[in-house]
Amino acid sequence: MLSIKNWDNKTWISSTKYIQSFNNFLLKQKKLTKHSKILDIGCGRGKIMGSLSSKLKLMNKPIGIDIENHKDFDKRITFKKINAIRYLKNNKNKFDLILIKQTIHFFNLRDVKKILRYSNASLEVGGVILILTLDTKNNEIPTFFLMKQKLNQSLKRDNLIWKKLLQLNIKKSITKFNFKVNIKKNIYLKMIKQRYISTLLKFSPLQISNGINEINLRYKKNILFNDKLKCLIFTKV
Ligand SMILES: C[S@@+](CC[C@H](N)C(=O)[O-])C[C@H]1O[C@@H](n2cnc3c(N)ncnc32)[C@H](O)[C@@H]1O
Repeated sequence: MLSIKNWDNKTWISSTKYIQSFNNFLLKQKKLTKHSKILDIGCGRGKIMGSLSSKLKLMNKPIGIDIENHKDFDKRITFKKINAIRYLKNNKNKFDLILIKQTIHFFNLRDVKKILRYSNASLEVGGVILILTLDTKNNEIPTFFLMKQKLNQSLKRDNLIWKKLLQLNIKKSITKFNFKVNIKKNIYLKMIKQRYISTLLKFSPLQISNGINEINLRYKKNILFNDKLKCLIFTKV
């Protein structure tokens, strides 16, 4: 399987501003204290939870799991390199918050249901599962032509997953998280080169280099856009 290594490797997603803004959003969705127990599924380098751990002075380090072995993971979390389903199936801990941010699209529909079933079983009463995916309707991610086509295909799949999630018989609500990105074009081009998003993983080096030329021509020195996510919140009653 192709792996995603550079998603939060010095990108806006790993910037202090983004992380603070995201954690403020999290705290609006779920009241957390220093006693809260948190699991981050597909945590990447775990910077979001690392920062939240410091902010709340968590007694228990958040657990972050990922199939990619990030050696530079945030040391304020307990990082486990493991497949999400395998972890959840054998898990005996109970969590107040399970975060699944921009990760659910890596699973097929059958596994999505498993993840939800196991996650729900791993929640304390009153605990929440937060699932965030790219907003499929008004997406502003800067793309080149081929990337846009691939992204649209993957957003169609995201919509299917979303519909299945909405059918689950668990108390739920929907909200949004938007972040205004202001990024220098040369940095964004580097992100494209490093295939920061799963859409780019299967492109050939030539397709990437043509894409970089296309973005270079199309965008100004600074790229401004909204990184828009939709969020589904499941609550264990
Ligand atoms: C787009 S990144 C999102 C990272 C982080 N949640 C964030 O939003 O900054 C998706 C992450 O999910 C991880 N992932 C993909 N399939 C997984 C699986 N089966 N089990 C655990 N993690 C997985 C990838 O390795 C990657 O780090």
